[in-house]
Amino acid sequence: MSTQPLIGQSVSRLEGHLKVTGKAKYAGDYTTSGLLYGYIVNSTITKGKITAIHTEEAKALTGVIEVFSHENKPSLAWLDLKYADMDAPPGTVFKPLHDGDILCNGQPIALVVAETFELARYAASLVRVEYEEEHFETNLKNNLDKARAPKIGLATLLKPLPPKPVGDFEKAFNQSYAQVEAEYSHGTEHHNPLELFATTTIYEKDGKLTIYDKTQGTVNCQVYVANVFGLSFKDVRVISPYVGGAFGSGLRPQYQLFFSVLAALQLKRSVKVMLDRHQMFTFGHRPPTIQHTRFGADKDGKVNALNHSAFAETSQFEDYTEVVVNWSHMLYPAENTLMEYKLVPLDVYSPLDMRAPGGSTGIHAIESSMDELAYKLNIDPLELRLINYADRDVSVDRPYSSKELKECYLQGAEKFGWANRNPQPRSMKRGNKLVGYGMATGIWEANRLPARAEVAFTKQGKLQVKSAVTDIGTGTFTVISQIAADELGLLLGDVNFSYGDSKMPFAPIQGGSFTIASVGTAVREACKALRKKLLKKAQKMEGSAFADASIDDVVFREGAMYRKDDPSIFVKLTTVIDANKGRPVKTTNFAVPNVFKLKKYSRATHSAAFVEVEVDEELGVVNVTRALTVVAAGRIINPKTARSQVLGGMVWSISKALREETISDYNLGKYMNPNLAEYHIPVHADIHELDVMFVEEKEEILNDLGIKGVGEIGLVAMPPAIANAIYHATGKRINQFPIHLEALL
Ligand code: MOS
Repeated sequence: MSTQPLIGQSVSRLEGHLKVTGKAKYAGDYTTSGLLYGYIVNSTITKGKITAIHTEEAKALTGVIEVFSHENKPSLAWLDLKYADMDAPPGTVFKPLHDGDILCNGQPIALVVAETFELARYAASLVRVEYEEEHFETNLKNNLDKARAPKIGLATLLKPLPPKPVGDFEKAFNQSYAQVEAEYSHGTEHHNPLELFATTTIYEKDGKLTIYDKTQGTVNCQVYVANVFGLSFKDVRVISPYVGGAFGSGLRPQYQLFFSVLAALQLKRSVKVMLDRHQMFTFGHRPPTIQHTRFGADKDGKVNALNHSAFAETSQFEDYTEVVVNWSHMLYPAENTLMEYKLVPLDVYSPLDMRAPGGSTGIHAIESSMDELAYKLNIDPLELRLINYADRDVSVDRPYSSKELKECYLQGAEKFGWANRNPQPRSMKRGNKLVGYGMATGIWEANRLPARAEVAFTKQGKLQVKSAVTDIGTGTFTVISQIAADELGLLLGDVNFSYGDSKMPFAPIQGGSFTIASVGTAVREACKALRKKLLKKAQKMEGSAFADASIDDVVFREGAMYRKDDPSIFVKLTTVIDANKGRPVKTTNFAVPNVFKLKKYSRATHSAAFVEVEVDEELGVVNVTRALTVVAAGRIINPKTARSQVLGGMVWSISKALREETISDYNLGKYMNPNLAEYHIPVHADIHELDVMFVEEKEEILNDLGIKGVGEIGLVAMPPAIANAIYHATGKRINQFPIHLEALL
């Protein structure tokens, strides 16, 4: 690998070998002498009260230490009854063991602590619970009469509610030359990262806690634990060493963290609590939705009326919201719009962000409606997008900070061979299978949050970089290291990045595709300041050849500082440190985005997806034989990790459109397939040719690095492109996700 610049190079994940050889230790892998194991008991009813909980039989087993329930909940828990977490929606946070009320099926109601995991799990099976059951409702479709506007809270800042209506939608729609009207429904989905949620709380000699936790936010969990248990922040350290996928499920502290800490504090012992696969279906999910669209266009294809309404499930205790209906007007500049978003509180756990929350739901309805409109107008679906192309975000009347969506369309169409498509449905065949081409647009917000970073250059010639940020498998470790190395002109091997630890400088929760824009910027700023400081130190050295140099007169490369005007003059950075009595030179930076500047622009990543499907109508089987996603996301720091992010989103798109769904039994109020045998996801045989392209895009507003973030964007355009391809293949418009085989027979 050549040295500079590292930005733009496809560096393989620095921790990759540790992961594939099993050397990487995850939260549940940590151990210590005398470690105890907890296993959680979950409610088997959906709503009501616990009238009695019988734990004697479990406690009688040798090796069982304690059983915690609401009846003997230590008084140390829930000292701050109001505290939730950084990703909490408006409402009242769920408090495990707070009382005997049951709010949803699977609610954690007790913790058995024993000397081994197996014993704890067995003992948990002996805990008998008596309940008083109450009537419950878990069926979204049957409860639309309870729909209401969401409450507004802090979370609304990052998840804006629908914009106000514009013009006169009804009139414009009724007068439209072409109209489409459709209902879309999406089932519940549960996050199923390979790594199960786990917390190992080490009870230190002085009563302080070192907590290995699976989370997307170390500081978030530190603050949660300190507040809920009334501890001092400095006595709580949360380490999230490696994260085996999370997809949003780790944005909020999960209940195993609460239980592990509760038991550790009460027993003054170290305690590990790990969930098993079925328990992964008990703490939040992508909510089911029912959406309606009515789009109207004139003869030339100009969309002039957009109505998008959504009903989404939430719990009875929090108003989980996501951005489902705001996107169509960001993409298509209609003069008349009506956007509505309502919540239906049901007796379920609070829904939870899952990759591209809201976007992957709403954009399906928008992009399949656009496809239908294209057929009504007899205009090519890609052409229809170009006719309605917006250079400005008319929904809020602001320019985009950058937008190369048109290039995504054009380069994608070229590469995919969109021109070979016969527009007529059912016109393309391969053997006994129908072939269809579909395309769709994607959009996702490009955000940036405040973050801190510390960097130090040591006498060993290493750059130490520190941030509390996690790496949830996205490549954060590698990409941040690349940014830091470039700034100081170092080899990647000379950068040591310490992360995933609440002791390190503040980082926000890792999500929303904003991590590199936030933490990457903080690290870069800290490195810039370090360069200045190193120059100052060099200038203080005796006979310094840099005495009159400003920072613009020097260049950092190969571990040294050079004069630009005379590259034969240089000083090694380690020499500068030696002159500093061997003490590292250190800087910290708190990078806060300029919200006044940012507010003048809409900031979004864009994509276009092109899909080929083969449909076997005798069996109802759909194969996604070929897919291409073209992304405009500003500058790409690491094409390999960025591509992997988009590929993951593309595999998930196949899952979302064709496989994935948690099935509810509304009579029991219970999820019926909480395991990976019955919760269908694609397997290798489902994945064929997937291709990713990034177009050039110059972003100058969001941050100096010119990056926008790549994560969620892979999962927004392709699901509707699959549905549209199925329509093209079969002439059947299926608006229910996932598309079941029987719908195509
Ligand atoms: Mo993602 S849903 O922002 O972790």
